Amino acid sequence: MAKIRVALIGVGNCASALVQGLQYYGRSAKDKAHIGLKNPVLGGLRPEDIEVVAAFDVDERKVGKDLSEAVLAPPNDVPRLADLASSNIVVNKGPTLDGLGEYTKKVVHVSDRQDANVALVLKENEADIVLNLLPSGATKASQWYAEESMLAGSAFVNVTPNFIASNAEWAKKYENAGLPLVGDDLIDQVGATTLHKTLLNLLSMNGVHITETYQLDVGGGTESLDTLERTRDMKRNVKTKSVESALPYPAAVVAGSTDYVDFMQNRRDSYFWIRGVYFCNVPMQMDLKLSTVDAPNAGSVLLDLIRAVKLAKDRQMKGAVLPICAYAFKHPPQLMPLETAEKLFADFIAGEA
Ligand SMILES: NC(=O)c1ccc[n+]([C@@H]2O[C@H](COP(=O)([O-])OP(=O)(O)OC[C@H]3O[C@@H](n4cnc5c(N)ncnc54)[C@H](O)[C@@H]3O)[C@@H](O)[C@H]2O)c1
Repeated sequence: MAKIRVALIGVGNCASALVQGLQYYGRSAKDKAHIGLKNPVLGGLRPEDIEVVAAFDVDERKVGKDLSEAVLAPPNDVPRLADLASSNIVVNKGPTLDGLGEYTKKVVHVSDRQDANVALVLKENEADIVLNLLPSGATKASQWYAEESMLAGSAFVNVTPNFIASNAEWAKKYENAGLPLVGDDLIDQVGATTLHKTLLNLLSMNGVHITETYQLDVGGGTESLDTLERTRDMKRNVKTKSVESALPYPAAVVAGSTDYVDFMQNRRDSYFWIRGVYFCNVPMQMDLKLSTVDAPNAGSVLLDLIRAVKLAKDRQMKGAVLPICAYAFKHPPQLMPLETAEKLFADFIAGEA
């Protein structure tokens, strides 16, 4: 079976978790149980069928370095998950555009190397799939890489909360190019949004009337810093809409990131508050905290969607691929209940949707 050839745009914490995860679950670990993966095999494909073939960043501690070294370079602060051998992939310099904000400029050291011809590098390396792992504030840069990916004939996966797959114009462009497009804003494996929706769904299914609820989180990592400055409102909007969709009636809902705490590094604490009434209008409330490490929380979903996008590409699907978008992203072109999205995805993998 030919490998699934993936290019990484941004060698930050998320990319680090993915590259380390590929080693952890790769061929050499074959006899290990695939503990921690939702789908060890998906559509006949395994994590070891995935190969990173190119990578782009702007930081001088990553550009020009072997990928195995770059994924562990500061300011990345994801824990070490696997021992990485040299990959023979040298990180290319991409154009910075709006990749860095006022806050992140202080922690990312921009390399003075020349920008690579991104479309050419993607083409030469026969990248099936381009993963956009840029900071959430990188709106123009995300769109720029989406163009380059299209020029190179690669499918595009938008992990960031910028609206690309959910934007009808971009979906049309990819449809015209005959390429699959998926996004926007990845759902984590143990995601605060998913947990929040599941709790609300469970309570309302049992007749509880929710009156108000919030989910707020604090984290370290460069992405939390960028969120603090540039994308708090955008993320809050996406998460709040997604959580609201779990209730069959309107309620006061707030969901989104709140703050950056540097010493937390890549850790994230999410706080949930739910208030409602049940039998005879008797009040109930719930107060919970979830602690996770951010980047590894994306790993299992990334492995699923890379394999799913490969299937979509092989089946010559074009434009936004709804079953993958609804399964793996918080802001798909069309929001739907979690169980509906799971079913649609399972049918798609089985070749029935
Ligand atoms: N669990 C998760 O980690 C998770 C879940 C959902 C969505 N996301 C999204 O994934 C994205 C990546 O998250 P992260 O934690 O890895 O962020 P990060 O800040 O650790 O990494 C971003 C990387 O992009 C690089 N970069 C900046 N501008 C660039 C440019 N123009 N060209 C190439 N590289 C550039 C930075 O140097 C950095 O290495 C974010 O948009 C985040 O919102 C992550």
